[in-house]
Amino acid sequence: MYLRCSEPECKVRLDLHDRSLSCPECGELLEVAVDDEKFKPVELKRTWLERRMSHDPRDSSGVWRFRDFLPSYKADQVVTMGEGNEPLIAGQITSKWSGAKNIFFKHLGWNPTACFKDLGMTTGITEAKYHGASVVACASTGNTSGSMAAYAARAGIKARVYLPGGAVSKNKLAQALDYGAEVVQIEGNFDEALDILLAKTDEDIYFLNSINPFRIEGQKTVMFEMLEQLNWKAPDYVFVPGGNLGNSSAFGKALMELKAFGFIDKVPRIIIVQAEGANPLARTWRSKSKELQKVTNPETAATAIRIGVPKSWRKALRVLEFTDGMVIDVTEDEIAAAKAVIGRDGIGCEPASATTLAGLKNLVAKGIVPADATVVAILTGHVLKDTDYILKHQQSEKQLEAVEAR
Ligand code: F0G
Repeated sequence: MYLRCSEPECKVRLDLHDRSLSCPECGELLEVAVDDEKFKPVELKRTWLERRMSHDPRDSSGVWRFRDFLPSYKADQVVTMGEGNEPLIAGQITSKWSGAKNIFFKHLGWNPTACFKDLGMTTGITEAKYHGASVVACASTGNTSGSMAAYAARAGIKARVYLPGGAVSKNKLAQALDYGAEVVQIEGNFDEALDILLAKTDEDIYFLNSINPFRIEGQKTVMFEMLEQLNWKAPDYVFVPGGNLGNSSAFGKALMELKAFGFIDKVPRIIIVQAEGANPLARTWRSKSKELQKVTNPETAATAIRIGVPKSWRKALRVLEFTDGMVIDVTEDEIAAAKAVIGRDGIGCEPASATTLAGLKNLVAKGIVPADATVVAILTGHVLKDTDYILKHQQSEKQLEAVEAR
């Protein structure tokens, strides 16, 4: 494996462990190239299942169980807390409410720090440890910071997090503090916090935002596990919330690799869902523009995805092209209603995750997604990640209407 520029036209290749965060020639993001391996799909699928019966910490992880597609490390270098292994849960009330008959939730909030970031942090921190990093840092809307702080603590590395002041759920802030992170509150939004952090070159810091290709490697295993749970028969659609677009990029990368190596025949269509007030990719996609349609003052109560200038937008567009997918945006009321219904299904999630069900209902109503399609909706964060939101919206009219309509 090696690193390459994610822009297909640019042929730059770097050593796998090069620490650049962007292509030295064209400035685009980098990615881990998995293209010179010789995989045997039938045997490897069996090996992945057999590993579930082993107590090796790497095999107990839903990320490292698929390590054949990941950069390799010695067993004792891997920093893992048994991430992944989330079930696929069939929708009940959510199914009736959205009109989608075959909906399954993959709840990535059921991870060690209660969000999907752990899947990429186990690989990101393992790589940081490989480099002997003493400080890791990220900008965050709250989940990356909690996850990075926890995994850094496990690895004995100091964690520094840059948060948009006053715009992060206090549960998430508390989490980062509990894991011992140093918290820097920025006056400004997530995009500004990330730019401030990236401009810091005066100190030897290892960066762990999702522009780091090693984060993407861990997050891509969500698709491996989902497909395994469906006996390698791809669903028709995968709905995923879009913020900085690392997760959608990771899912697409997994599908490209699994298709290229003959693990699957069919690829699910990826549907990225953004909040209406923070919808740069939706605008870009609709306008067919070659430039990102930035949102200067992103606004949504789903603070996790309050992002106006997503760094991985080009990667995400390539994923949409590859999977014949699309992007949509949903309103604040649609998010609140969908979140209430997910709660009443006994599943629960944080607001950003509920965009998936909101988007699905919207597309079924428009006849774009057939009612009998098989759909996997990715839930990215746990219900307890933003309790203020619940208390604020609990009795709102829209919510009660939503639940009554079930
Ligand atoms: N859902 C949740 C709960 C999130 O925390 C995020 C992003 C997303 C969806 C969007 O994922 O950025 O890969 O498109 N949270 C980041 C953070 C930005 O700092 O915690 P994405």
